[in-house]
Amino acid sequence: MTDLTVLVVGSGGREHALALAIAADPGVAAVHVAPGNPGTWHSWPHHAIDATSGEAVAALATDIGADLVVIGPEAPLVAGVADAVRAAGIACFGPSGEAAQLEGSKQFAKDVMNAAGVPTAASFFCRTPDEVAAALDELGAPYVVKQDGLAAGKGVVVTTDRDEALAHAAACGDVVVEEYLDGPEVSLFVITDGTVGLPLQPAQDFKRVGDGDSGPNTGGMGAYTPLPWAPDCLVDAVMERVVMPTLEEMTRRGTPFAGLLYVGLALTSRGMRVVEYNARFGDPETQAILPLLESPLGQVLNAAATGTLAEIGPLSWRDESAVIVVAAAENYPGTPRMGGSIEGPRLYESADNVHIVHAGTALDGDTLIAAGGRVLGVVATAPTLTDARDDAYAALAELDFPTGFWRTDIAAKAAAGLIPPVTSL
Ligand code: AMP
Ligand code: GLY
Repeated sequence: MTDLTVLVVGSGGREHALALAIAADPGVAAVHVAPGNPGTWHSWPHHAIDATSGEAVAALATDIGADLVVIGPEAPLVAGVADAVRAAGIACFGPSGEAAQLEGSKQFAKDVMNAAGVPTAASFFCRTPDEVAAALDELGAPYVVKQDGLAAGKGVVVTTDRDEALAHAAACGDVVVEEYLDGPEVSLFVITDGTVGLPLQPAQDFKRVGDGDSGPNTGGMGAYTPLPWAPDCLVDAVMERVVMPTLEEMTRRGTPFAGLLYVGLALTSRGMRVVEYNARFGDPETQAILPLLESPLGQVLNAAATGTLAEIGPLSWRDESAVIVVAAAENYPGTPRMGGSIEGPRLYESADNVHIVHAGTALDGDTLIAAGGRVLGVVATAPTLTDARDDAYAALAELDFPTGFWRTDIAAKAAAGLIPPVTSL
C-alpha cells in the first residue's frame, strides 16, 4: 500500500526517530504526531491529545483519515489504545493491551518465557518482605530486584548491598527477584504480525547514568549499532530460541503478539539469557537503528499491522554505524532540573550526517528549554563506529545547554575493540 497517512502516537525521542524514518518512506504521503514534541512539531502536523486515551487516539485517527497508527510508548499500549484504534477499523502497529503485558508485568513475561522454554534468569515472584529475603538468600549476591509493573526503566535495582535490595523491594510492592546475569547486553527488536518476525539490526544500550556504567539505572543514556563484537549467528539464534517460541506461546494463550517485540538479552558466560521483554521500540536504541534502515518503514509497519508481513522480504541496511548520545537534565534520573535553555545548530534541521531527536524539550516563547529527564539525543551515522562516535560528540560540544549533561563513553569500548568477541551463545 502506498500514499499512507500515518499517525505516530507519543512524545519522546523514540517517536521522533519513528516519525523521521516513516516520513522517509516514499510510500508515506503524510505523517502526523500526537502529542509530539517541539522537534516533531517543526516537521509534521501535531495534535494535543492524551496518548493513553484509546477513545481520543481512535477519534483523532478517524478525523485525519489515518491509514495506520503507530504507538510508540508502553503506557498507551498497556492501556489498550491499540485495541481501541483497531475497533475503529484503523490499522494499528502495536500489541493489544493483553499482549502488552509482556512488558506491563515482569512476572507475566517470566511465565511466558518459562512456558516457551526461553532461556532467562532464574527468578522468584515475591509479595512480602519475608519472601524477598528468602529469594535474596537463595540466589545470592549481586542481587537483582525488579518492580513487577511499569517503571519507565527505573524499576530495577542491581546491588551487592542486601539492605538496598530489601529497601527497593519494600518501595515497589510486588517484585521479581532474579539471578544476576553477567556479560554484555544486546537489544534485538523484532517487527511481527504475530506469526512472522522480521528482526532489526542488534544494538547496545547504556542503562546507567554515569561513565563506566556507574550510578543508577535510567531509561537509557545512549546506544550504538551494529555490534562489532557480536557473533554473526546472534540474530538467527535469538529468533529461533527466543522470538519464535514466544510468539507461538502468546498465540497459544489466545493473545497473539503483533507489534514490536523488544528482546533485552545478556550474553553470559553460560549462554544467552533474556533480561526483559518490551512491547515497543526501545529508547534510545531506535534512534541509532532506524537511520541505517533502507527498507520503507511505513510500509513494513503497515504490513505488520495488517497481518501481511510474510509478503515483505528481510530488511535491508546501510553498511554504516550509528551512535546516539542522550543529553539529560541535571539530576536525572532523580527529579530533573527543568527550564534550562538549549541553543545550538541542528536543533530542528540538519544538512549533514548528524541530527538531533527531541525527547523532553518544550518551548518557552521561541526558546527551547529542558522539560524532562532525557532532553534530547544527538545521532550520528558514519562509515565506522569511531567516526560516528566522534561526530556525535563533536556535535554535542557545539550544543549550548548549561543545565544538561551526557555520558562521555557511549560506544567507546566497542569502537576501541575492547569488548571481547562473544563466540558462543
Ligand atoms: P530491565 O528493566 O529488566 O531491563 O532491567 C534494567 C537493567 O537492569 C538491564 O538492562 C540490566 O542492565 C539490569 N538487569 C536487569 N536484570 C538483570 C539481571 N538479572 N542481572 C544483571 N543485570 C540485570
Ligand atoms: N532502552 C531501554 C528501553 O527502551 O527500555
